[in-house]
Amino acid sequence: MNPSSARDFIQANTRVTHAPLVPEISLHLATQITPIWQATETYLAENGIDPPFWAFAWPGSQLIARHILDNPTLVAGKRVLDFASGCGLAAIAAIKAGAHTASVNDIDPIAMEAAALNATLNHTILDYRPGNLVGTVSDWDLIVCGDVCYEAPMTNAIFPWLQSCACTTEVWIADPGRSYRPNHDLIPITRRTIETTRELEDQDRRVTTLYRLTA
Ligand SMILES: C[S@@+](CC[C@H](N)C(=O)[O-])C[C@H]1O[C@@H](n2cnc3c(N)ncnc32)[C@H](O)[C@@H]1O
Repeated sequence: MNPSSARDFIQANTRVTHAPLVPEISLHLATQITPIWQATETYLAENGIDPPFWAFAWPGSQLIARHILDNPTLVAGKRVLDFASGCGLAAIAAIKAGAHTASVNDIDPIAMEAAALNATLNHTILDYRPGNLVGTVSDWDLIVCGDVCYEAPMTNAIFPWLQSCACTTEVWIADPGRSYRPNHDLIPITRRTIETTRELEDQDRRVTTLYRLTA
C-alpha cells in the first residue's frame, strides 16, 4: 500500500480520540475493534499487510507516555527512540516533554504512517526510521518499547538486541504482563493499572509495569 492510500485507510477506519491514561494527546484510534480487524483482513488478503496494531494505544505506550509527561526531565534534551512504535504515542509524549528528537520505528509501514498522522494531530515533528533496526548500533540516549513481549518469536528476536543496546543506551520496556516477558535484567521503575477493552484483552484492566533493562 502506498503512503497516501495508507493514510486514507487509517483515517477511514479510526476516529480522533485519546488513550485513557494520556488524555492530553489526540490519536487516530479504532473505537470499534471488529470492523477494523475485518477491514484489515480484507486488505491483508489483497495487499499482504499486517494486523492494525497501530490502531490502538496499547498499555505499554500509555504507561511510557504518562511517565514521560509526568517526569519531563527524564527525556529533556535527549534523543529518544520509540521502538515498535505502533501509533507513536510514546514518541509524541517525548517531544512534548522536551526531547531533542523522538524517532519512531515500526516494522509495519502503515504504523509509520499512523505515527505521522498522529504527530501532525499534535503539532509535533518526529524522526522516521522505517525498516528493521534490530541488530543495528544504537543512535539514541533512550530507547522506549511498549508492549513488545506478546509473541515468543518477536521477544526472542528483539531482546538480545535491546540488551546489547543497554550497554550504551538507557532502555525502557513497558509490559502489561504478557507471557513472553523475560524475568531477568528488568528493574521496575513504575507501575499503573490501565483500562483495557475486552475486545482486545481478556481483562478490563491490566497492571502494567515500566522497567529499565540492564545490560
Ligand atoms: C502490541 S504493538 C505495540 C505498539 C506500541 N508500542 C504501543 O505500546 O502502543 C507491537 C508493535 O511492534 C511492532 N513490531 C513487531 N516486530 C517489530 C520489529 N522487529 N521492529 C519494529 N517493530 C516491530 C508491530 O508492528 C506492532 O506495531
